[in-house]
Amino acid sequence: MLSARLIVDRDFAISELDRRLFGTFVEHMGRCVYTGIFEPGHPSADEHGFREDVAALTRELGVSIVRYPGGNFLSGYNWEDGVGPVDRRPRRLDLAWFSTETNRFGTNEFVDWCRKVEVEPMFGVNLGTRGPDEARRFIEYCNHPGGTELSELRRSHGWDKPHDIKFWCLGNEMDGPWQIGAKRASEYGRVAHETAKVMRWVDPSIELAACGSSNRDMATYARWEYEVLDHCFDHVDFISLHTYFMNPHDSTEEFLGNIELLDLFIKEVVAIADAVAATRRSPKRIMLSLDEWNVWYKARTHAHLRKPGWPEHPPLIEEVYNTEDALLVGGALITLLNNADRVKCACMAQLVNIIGPIMTEPGGPAWRQTIFHPFALTARHAHGRVLRTLASSPGYAGKTAPEIPYLHACVTEDEATGRVVVFALNRHLGEPMDLDVLLRGFGGGRRILEASQIHHPNMKAVNTKDARDEVAPAPIRSVAIDGDRLRATLMPGSWNVIVTAPA
Ligand code: AHR
Repeated sequence: MLSARLIVDRDFAISELDRRLFGTFVEHMGRCVYTGIFEPGHPSADEHGFREDVAALTRELGVSIVRYPGGNFLSGYNWEDGVGPVDRRPRRLDLAWFSTETNRFGTNEFVDWCRKVEVEPMFGVNLGTRGPDEARRFIEYCNHPGGTELSELRRSHGWDKPHDIKFWCLGNEMDGPWQIGAKRASEYGRVAHETAKVMRWVDPSIELAACGSSNRDMATYARWEYEVLDHCFDHVDFISLHTYFMNPHDSTEEFLGNIELLDLFIKEVVAIADAVAATRRSPKRIMLSLDEWNVWYKARTHAHLRKPGWPEHPPLIEEVYNTEDALLVGGALITLLNNADRVKCACMAQLVNIIGPIMTEPGGPAWRQTIFHPFALTARHAHGRVLRTLASSPGYAGKTAPEIPYLHACVTEDEATGRVVVFALNRHLGEPMDLDVLLRGFGGGRRILEASQIHHPNMKAVNTKDARDEVAPAPIRSVAIDGDRLRATLMPGSWNVIVTAPA
């Protein structure tokens, strides 16, 4: 049995956590929109064609904000194609995914869907083939109350009130050679600056995110962030990060070491953003938006990414997630919470079918993938503030990261309810962990309200249409609290959440 210790002190907080950490992403790609969230004629479809089964699972997942409409799709998208009478909308070749886009679903439908599932919409503007002029026209269409051509156009389309979209992404992965209209850092930095400026002139209440690197392995990583922010620092609030976790060594232990790289990535981007601030002697702090993140390594071949013949919504990158993927997602969420002072927004990519926590069958059921569970449990139980933890745990040296402690944990406190919640990953695959948590400064007695684990003896176990709960939360068998000491036995290779409340 391994022993690990965690000390938490109520006086030492990292930050309030921003609910936008529990975001996801809906792109016009494969079956995310069509036969994902939207399928007119499906037995569960409402009058708009929105699948009620997917809407219910999205609410259960606890999603706060959803990014739309891409992704790579964004860089060739004309927002005008997706508004107005559906029968007059153009069919277009989508060069991002080599598909035919029918535009049956667009901006106003997405906003309606967001209102239905009670999430905040996050939009991107196309800085691949277009620029500041289309961006300022688009935000006028969406957010201006009325009395101008574009706001009246929205009203004539049936949406009388402004959509009031607050969070906007300035393009997508603009450093990537695969991107339509990819740019050098100086080119993008200038366009982002000018676009942000005019968008904010139309609506000063918005928040804007500039594109960081497509991933930490890009050759221009770090220099890109510095140069882009050097151009647009005064006009943006966020820099974006994207990361898709791979499993190159086909080893669960190495795979779970990826979580350490996410922490490093976040800390590096914070350092770069603050270095740009320093050159200006500016107290402004650019926040981080991890607006694409997930596990993605199985469905990554050319055949997964592209189907011949320009089909409509073909099945693309429909990754099926297993136990170890769920552990990694749970661990990554712990990292996000531990960086809640600078990461104020994060979008698991994507929501449904495309590398998503929800899977659907056209005309058939929807079900929860393994990664659904750690996300839903974290969104449900992490409220209020994230507290600092002092952890001591044995660890291992890996190829992915030099030092990987077996215990990866965070603690939140909701001052409104008095709930203190421990999230803990045991990365040891062979031994249970005896976890000893000292909860300092909370006063009085406490009780355990709920203790759940994600654990399966088979790291490759998956949920399917016919075995939907193969990997699902189960109670932690051994957990107790006595005064300020919480003790739990964590199964080998398990992700755990322990909710405590005043007695
Ligand atoms: O989420 C799938 C794709 O991955 C997105 O379109 C793109 O931004 C990223 O490369």
